[in-house]
Amino acid sequence: MHLTKRFFTMNALAVLVSIGLTFLAVIIFVAAYTKVFGREAGIKEFQKVFEVRAAISEIKREALTFKFEQLLDHNYQQKLFDRVNALDASAIILINREVLFATHNFNKIDIEKSLMLSGDSSHRDEIELEGKTYMFTRADYKLPSGDMGILLLLVPIKVKTSFYVLLGIFTVSFFTVVFLLMNFWISYKFSRGIILPISRLKDAAIKIREGDLSCEISEEGEGEIQELSRTLELMRIKLKESVYLQQKFDDNRKFLVSSISHDLKTPVTSIKGYIEGIIDGVAKTPEKLEEYLETARSKAILVNAMIDDLLLYSKLDLNQLPYHFEKSDLTSYFEDCVADHKYECEKANLSLELINELKEPVKVLIDRERLKRVIQNILDNAVMYAGKTNGKIAILLRETRTSAIIEIRDNGNGIPENKLPFIFDRFYQVDPSRKSGSGLGLAIAKQIIEGQEGKIWAKSVVGEGTRIMISLKKF
Ligand SMILES: Nc1ncnc2c1ncn2[C@@H]1O[C@H](COP(=O)(O)OP(=O)(O)O)[C@@H](O)[C@H]1O
Ligand SMILES: [Mg+2]
Repeated sequence: MHLTKRFFTMNALAVLVSIGLTFLAVIIFVAAYTKVFGREAGIKEFQKVFEVRAAISEIKREALTFKFEQLLDHNYQQKLFDRVNALDASAIILINREVLFATHNFNKIDIEKSLMLSGDSSHRDEIELEGKTYMFTRADYKLPSGDMGILLLLVPIKVKTSFYVLLGIFTVSFFTVVFLLMNFWISYKFSRGIILPISRLKDAAIKIREGDLSCEISEEGEGEIQELSRTLELMRIKLKESVYLQQKFDDNRKFLVSSISHDLKTPVTSIKGYIEGIIDGVAKTPEKLEEYLETARSKAILVNAMIDDLLLYSKLDLNQLPYHFEKSDLTSYFEDCVADHKYECEKANLSLELINELKEPVKVLIDRERLKRVIQNILDNAVMYAGKTNGKIAILLRETRTSAIIEIRDNGNGIPENKLPFIFDRFYQVDPSRKSGSGLGLAIAKQIIEGQEGKIWAKSVVGEGTRIMISLKKF
């Protein structure tokens, strides 16, 4: 739920619950009061008190618009009697202390008492007469003779007004306490659902600011807070990735610089040597001259190939080359492949054949050009490390339930078992003195195959040959 909505709902709930509980408490309070004091203080009684109070005030207001003489009119008195009777009340009209008209019979002492108490303005609007509680109101008229005309209205009530005051105080206090408790509870809930997660987020943000990107931000809290945690966590992951990528960029640059200075230096120095030899006239005969030039040219080709490999490897490593995947038929792809490389292998006195063990056509999702580069690198090695003439190279196609397996097998020198785990590492060469390649051929192959969600591994026995295996997901 959104925080605003939640906030509103909880507050509304607090008010409603407080009102509900107060209502209940008031009912219980009234019931208890009735039980304890034996008073009939039902809701009706409360209502009646208010109604009667309003009605007699109205009679008094109206009477005050008349002159005192008019109150003595028989018609008025008749009307007054009816109205007062309907309210279960009584009316008395007096001059000084002498009763001129009374709707009911009161004894003299009671009338005296009511006159005295009603004349005392500090007194509340109720009096006790003969053990009964009466609510009263009076209208005073100053007569020209100097006498005092009085209209006194008396209504018997069952519940004292003091009870209402008590009830009022109880209601307000109870409501206040319940409302405060509810608010306390809401604050507690909010602090648990919002403040705590926010303070955790703050801690996490401080850690990120200090460069510690390793601590995961868990999705805590509710609504917007949860979204905020999620966004912060995504931000942390992105930041971590970019830091990692930046580091990789730096590593790569260092790696390029160092490898250029190490591996390229040797062939470039020897090219320089041969060219200087030619300039200095060391190559005197045309044959010698051609030999020097040929050597310099082959070294230049090697340097060129090494630079290509270096650039390709570093681009692959930084994921800078997009793949163009195509659904391809494995058999026809490798038939083309074998046709492309046949001549090259035969030139090196090696045979190349395709052994297809697939029972039915298998489709794979591959970047055709990239995969060609992989096969090229592996076949280059098979040729380069054949170790004998009339060697044999075979490409085998097999399948498992989920993958297509491509095996490129030769019967060349083989690779010692302890060196085998490293041949896919960049710059790794089993025999560095051979200076045969850049040491990047298999590292590039691994990058490309893994970029297509495939796997590449090798098996080899020294003197028997090497098998490079590739598995690709079937489409
Ligand atoms: N078919 C193979 N037979 C024997 N050794 C191999 C074969 N393929 C790879 N190797 C060994 O693995 C090493 C790494 O291969 P690679 O990454 O292509 O580098 P490079 O060919 O430039 O040396 C090679 O130096 C070589 O010693
Ligand atoms: Mg190679």
